[in-house]
Amino acid sequence: MSSVDLAPWTSVTDATAYGRALLVGDRVRLRALHEEDLPQLDRWWQDEELMALQADAVRPRPPGSQTETFRRWSVNDSSTAVGFSVVARDGGELVGHVTMWGADVRTRCATLAIIVGSEHTGQGYGTGAVRVALRYAFQEMGLHRVQLQVWAANDRALATYARAGFREEGRRREVSFHAGRWHDEVLMAVLEHEWRDLATDP
Ligand SMILES: CC(C)(COP(=O)(O)OP(=O)(O)OC[C@H]1O[C@@H](n2cnc3c(N)ncnc32)[C@H](O)[C@@H]1OP(=O)(O)O)[C@@H](O)C(=O)NCCC(=O)NCCS
Repeated sequence: MSSVDLAPWTSVTDATAYGRALLVGDRVRLRALHEEDLPQLDRWWQDEELMALQADAVRPRPPGSQTETFRRWSVNDSSTAVGFSVVARDGGELVGHVTMWGADVRTRCATLAIIVGSEHTGQGYGTGAVRVALRYAFQEMGLHRVQLQVWAANDRALATYARAGFREEGRRREVSFHAGRWHDEVLMAVLEHEWRDLATDP
C-alpha cells in the first residue's frame, strides 16, 4: 500500500499532501497535457519502430494526424476517462503519455493505454507511469478494474504491466498481422483489491 493510501485524511494538511503526491511516482509525474507536448507525442505515435507494437498496422500518417486524438484523450472533463502527459520526475522532460478510458458508473472498469518515447524506453518510466495511473484509477476515479490489450510479442510491455500488477486473463488468437504472419493479443487486468495487496509505492 502506498504512502498516499496511508494518509489518515483528517485535516487540510492531509488533503493537500494527498493532492501533491497523487500524480507523482519515484520516476515520473503525470500532468495535464500541454499544447507544446503535442508535436513530440505525435512524432512518437508515428514512429515506425513503435507502430508495430501499438497499432493494428504499420501505416504512418502525415505529421499532426494524432494531435487531435491526444487532445481528446487528455481533456479530463468527465469521470469516465483521463489522459496525462508523462514527464520525468527529475527535470520534467516529456517521456510519454498515458490514458484510461471507457469507465462507467456500473462496471467501474477502464482500459489503459500508454506510450513511452523510443529514446526513453527501458528506463523505468513505463512501469512508473502505469503504477501512478493505477493509483489514480483506484484512489481517485473509484474504479474497480483496469484492463488492457497487448500484442503477445511485446515482451517489454508484458513485463512492465506484470510488474505493475496486471495479470493475464486470456488471449485473442491470431488477431494481429505483421511480418507476413498472425500474432496473438494478450488480455490483462488488475482489480482494485489486487492492487491494494501489492503494497508498492509508485
Ligand atoms: C511498453 C512501454 C510502455 C514500457 O515502458 P518502459 O519505460 O520501456 O518500461 P520500463 O523501463 O519501466 O520496463 C521495461 C521492462 O521490460 C524489460 N525490457 C526492456 N527492453 C526489453 C526488451 N527488448 N525485451 C524484453 N524486455 C525488455 C526491462 O528490462 C524492464 O523489465 P525489468 O525492469 O524487469 O528488467 C514502452 O516501452 C513503450 O511505450 N513502448 C512502445 C509502444 C508500446 O509498446 N506500447 C504498449 C502497447 S500495449
